[in-house]
Amino acid sequence: PDRKSLTSWDRAKRSQTKRVLITAYDHPFAKLAEQAGIDGILIGDSLGMTIQGGRDTLRVSLEHMLYHTEIVARAAQACLIMADLPFGSFEASPAQAFASAALLVKAGADIIKLEGGAPMVETVAFLSARAIPVCAHIGLTPQHVRQLGGFKKQGKTADAAALLLADAQALAEAGARMVLMEAIPAPLATEITKTLTVPTIGIGAGPGTDAQILVLHDVLGLSGGYVPGFARTYLDGASLMRDAIGRYADEVRTQAFPPPG
Ligand code: KIV
Ligand code: NA
Repeated sequence: PDRKSLTSWDRAKRSQTKRVLITAYDHPFAKLAEQAGIDGILIGDSLGMTIQGGRDTLRVSLEHMLYHTEIVARAAQACLIMADLPFGSFEASPAQAFASAALLVKAGADIIKLEGGAPMVETVAFLSARAIPVCAHIGLTPQHVRQLGGFKKQGKTADAAALLLADAQALAEAGARMVLMEAIPAPLATEITKTLTVPTIGIGAGPGTDAQILVLHDVLGLSGGYVPGFARTYLDGASLMRDAIGRYADEVRTQAFPPPG
């Protein structure tokens, strides 16, 4: 079945078929995700934390995103490929956003994702009118972590919830083909999902969104300590891998590896 075209995502929403995304940043994990039947892969700027070891996503550059988008897109050809516009690569003007987004599309992205609500409506319209499909990311937007004062749940008051709903509608009207909501109350995410005709993706937003996404390293237990409360870990990957590397080291030291001859 078609997982890649945006029309297939629209159809999935209409038929209430849940879709699943995960982040991936390199060839082997992108291949595994696709083979596991994932519908979409996000090359997230979360790579600043998961693979670069940063405290937040603010140091990720467009060049980093282009490199990872290219290797993931080469590995996974049946899934939807979504790539993040990193901090500093799109906010100054719609023209800046277009130049950066076009490079991500050339690197293999089917759709680009950018963080921000009302201030990004004009940019979303500009990109959408120029052949670049956009997913708008609202709620907890990690590039705004310093303004938000931490990775905190958003949309908790009635006023904040109303603003998020209005933002989602404005972004969709501007042409956003998807809206991703991070760390907002489940009833709000459900209401936004019912209001919009475009597919919604949730993370920490309850079960009511059209699709779900998690960060690969959280799913596999490779995040080394901090995992957000809304994530779920399906494997103790760190222990298994540390163990395997340790066994290799032991075998060399005891001369069990390599074999003679
Ligand atoms: O960068 C990322 O991984 C993301 C997801 C958490 C939605 O933006
Ligand atoms: Na991101």
